[in-house]
Amino acid sequence: MSTTTPRDELERLSREALAAIEAAESGEQLEQIEKTALARKGPLMSLMRGIKDLPAEERAPFGQAVNAARQSLEEAVVSRRDAFTAQRLAAEASDTRFDPSEPARPLSHGHLHPITRIRREAEEVFMGLGFSVVDGPEVETEAYNFDYLNIPSHHPARDMQDTMWLDSGHVMRTHTSPVQLRAMQRAEGKPPVRVIAPGRVFRNEQPDATHEHTFHQVEGLMVDEGVSVADMKAVLRLALSRLFGGSVEVRLRPHYFPFVEPGFELDMRPAGSPDDAPWLEILGCGMVHPEVLRAGGMDPEQVSGFAFGMGLDRLAMMRFGIEDVRWMMSGDLRFLQQF
Ligand code: PHE
Repeated sequence: MSTTTPRDELERLSREALAAIEAAESGEQLEQIEKTALARKGPLMSLMRGIKDLPAEERAPFGQAVNAARQSLEEAVVSRRDAFTAQRLAAEASDTRFDPSEPARPLSHGHLHPITRIRREAEEVFMGLGFSVVDGPEVETEAYNFDYLNIPSHHPARDMQDTMWLDSGHVMRTHTSPVQLRAMQRAEGKPPVRVIAPGRVFRNEQPDATHEHTFHQVEGLMVDEGVSVADMKAVLRLALSRLFGGSVEVRLRPHYFPFVEPGFELDMRPAGSPDDAPWLEILGCGMVHPEVLRAGGMDPEQVSGFAFGMGLDRLAMMRFGIEDVRWMMSGDLRFLQQF
């Protein structure tokens, strides 16, 4: 007659659990074994309940034996799991389709268009001088683009060659100057007005390396009591110095724009250049014409102002060494990715 002692039972359960651990083929199976055979209320730990039937002197050693068995089975689980991990890594490492040591592909991220960079720099500079940045429509009325700006109806700028007319009778604005009027009108006759207005402008031109049908300007306008040509020259010299990252000197050459009187083209060169150093033509400017002030709701007897218009494309071309303005709007990634 054979009797099964708790010791025998412990040995059998341990053996079975160990066999199951060795036979496990995955981490999930190991986890299953931990949850059943080795669980707090599983068969192994249930042996603890039989302790009370044992002779007193055997109880402590048996309890220790159960705990020891459980611990060594836990260790067997851990080492089996480590083996799985090592196996998986080895398989990945030997798989030629996947090289875990290869550096990650760099994330490609967007970047700013050269025009956007120059525009933002110009905005920073003028905001630092107390100007605010305003916007205006790209599709304009004939009145804002021409009439209010004192551009007579016989002016060649109006003819079909230069202006893109829409069937509705609107125009694609040919310059940012109409925003001067909108800014003054918003001020409702109350100076000061100190704004810049960057944006796209459109001309019906045959594109070449220096001409585009779509390009960019920044308009500037300052209207207040007693604004003079000297103010204009000082503001523009300071702004251009900051924009070009070095002190510049400027000169004004008389030039005709219908919306200013007097009107100028402004040239610049690095401050302290030799007398015969070349000047660079950089923008058009002048004192706002009384008719334009009036159209903007300002009283030319009370206030005066200066305005300027600066081409952003040419600025960006100078700054980044771009040779052909047509690249700006080309959308060509070979060009854009250089910035
Ligand atoms: N609007 C003019 C142009 O497009 C530039 C300009 C603006 C000139 C303001 C004087 C004053 O050429």
